[in-house]
Amino acid sequence: MTNEHQSNYDIIAKTIRERRAVKKGYNDKVVTEEAVREILDDARWAPTHGMREPWRFIFVSKEEQPAFARQVAQTYPEELQENRENFLNEPSAFLVVVMQKPEKQKQWDENFGATAALIQNFWLLAWEKKLGVVWRTNPHIYHSEVKDILNIGEDERVVGFIHLGYFDEAPEAKDRTPIDEKFSSFKGS
Ligand SMILES: Cc1cc2nc3c(=O)[nH]c(=O)nc-3n(C[C@H](O)[C@H](O)[C@H](O)COP(=O)(O)O)c2cc1C
Repeated sequence: MTNEHQSNYDIIAKTIRERRAVKKGYNDKVVTEEAVREILDDARWAPTHGMREPWRFIFVSKEEQPAFARQVAQTYPEELQENRENFLNEPSAFLVVVMQKPEKQKQWDENFGATAALIQNFWLLAWEKKLGVVWRTNPHIYHSEVKDILNIGEDERVVGFIHLGYFDEAPEAKDRTPIDEKFSSFKGS
């Protein structure tokens, strides 16, 4: 590798290692639609089989959030609604990630893989801007009424709610298993 490639590798590896899920402790800085679009404009260079680009995104601003949180919370049993509404008002904005849901398992897997790759791109880039991200898969993402609220088609699914908010302090890292424990070499007989 040339020196330039080595330094790109080091920078990318550092970001991959240091990125964290930011689940709380967001500061007051406003997450604008513009800031999110800018990151998505880079993140969209994720691998995508058949060039299907099976994703689309719905931004929920801080302004829209209280009404949105109430509507989504109402899809839960009554005793949980207040808790869910408060929870959904915690982040500074949401990005709802929607995926095309083809009938064939193979294409479904490819679409989910591509969308997950894009989310990871987004997560890494946002991290560099101190924009905290957590991909959340709470039960409401599967709820038909939430799909109606968001105008999600029959041939689509919600892959996740991306909770967003700028942060000052990085969360502590959770350890990862050494790769030796997850790696083997195939030896044919
Ligand atoms: C597909 C996916 C779904 C996730 N869903 C949730 C979730 O519903 N709630 C949550 O607190 N974290 C969720 N996370 C974030 C993980 O909990 C987090 O990545 C993990 O704890 C490791 O922490 P780190 O990302 O800071 O290294 C999700 C992550 C992925 C990849």
